[in-house]
Amino acid sequence: MHSSFQLAKKYLQYYLSASNSKGHGMHSPFVFQFILHVLNNHSGYQPPIKIENLRRQLLTDNRLLEIEDLGAGSRVASSKKRTVRQLAKAALKPKKYAQLLYRLVNYYAPETILELGTSLGVTTSYLSAANPSAKIFTIEGSKAVAAIARENFEKLSLKNIELIQGSFDEHLTSAIHQLSSIDLAYIDGNHRYEPTMRYFHQLLPHLHNYSILIFDDIHWSEEMERAWEEIKGHTSVRYTIDVFFLGFVFFRQEFKVKQHFCIRF
Ligand SMILES: C[S@@+](CC[C@H](N)C(=O)[O-])C[C@H]1O[C@@H](n2cnc3c(N)ncnc32)[C@H](O)[C@@H]1O
Repeated sequence: MHSSFQLAKKYLQYYLSASNSKGHGMHSPFVFQFILHVLNNHSGYQPPIKIENLRRQLLTDNRLLEIEDLGAGSRVASSKKRTVRQLAKAALKPKKYAQLLYRLVNYYAPETILELGTSLGVTTSYLSAANPSAKIFTIEGSKAVAAIARENFEKLSLKNIELIQGSFDEHLTSAIHQLSSIDLAYIDGNHRYEPTMRYFHQLLPHLHNYSILIFDDIHWSEEMERAWEEIKGHTSVRYTIDVFFLGFVFFRQEFKVKQHFCIRF
């Protein structure tokens, strides 16, 4: 994993070299629409306020959980016991990015969604609320954390989420088969080269022309940067969009020329 200093340096490089966040000078109509409706909210989508209210509650929740860390760990603490509050602070996607996922689902309306890495269920809740008719599978390795996520889905009355408790390695194949075809997958756990590439290759045969993959923390470590470069280079991949903390992958064959976009967000 990169040090905080290295990461800040990389972020600054990204920020200075990325394309304009308003879409000025963007030649791809698809990416222009992505900037307009997903990165910026020109469609006026309003996510339900109750999800951020829940996050606020989690940030003051002192319940102590026993965590089995199956992934690459967190950059904040590595102890086996954490409070809900610590997790809410360290492991969850901030509001800005979680609401970006909400807009993406609103705009592209995927019907089958797979999330690797539920944690307390905040991003899952956004994915779910953005399209209540979608079928969502989310996988979380830690039993105690999954129990809190379940509790949160109940509190928010979200009905379209199937939470699988267990390791990605153990449950990914069956989740993919149950969904049969994947419209959207969000990979937000086990941020290392080998598993990331393995999940990518496992997902590939179940994707279609309009599928979207989202990889989290693509610049978090050298391993993740290597995985991201390899994904970008894969023959099936047409467009990628890098907003530093998230990487979006598109497979539309009508995009004749492979292109990679780095956009300020
Ligand atoms: C960054 S958190 C997910 C955050 C969540 N998507 C959000 O922003 O609301 C990653 C989660 O993935 C889980 N995880 C990591 N590696 C895993 C694995 N191999 N199998 C199952 N769960 C795993 C961790 O327990 C952790 O809760």
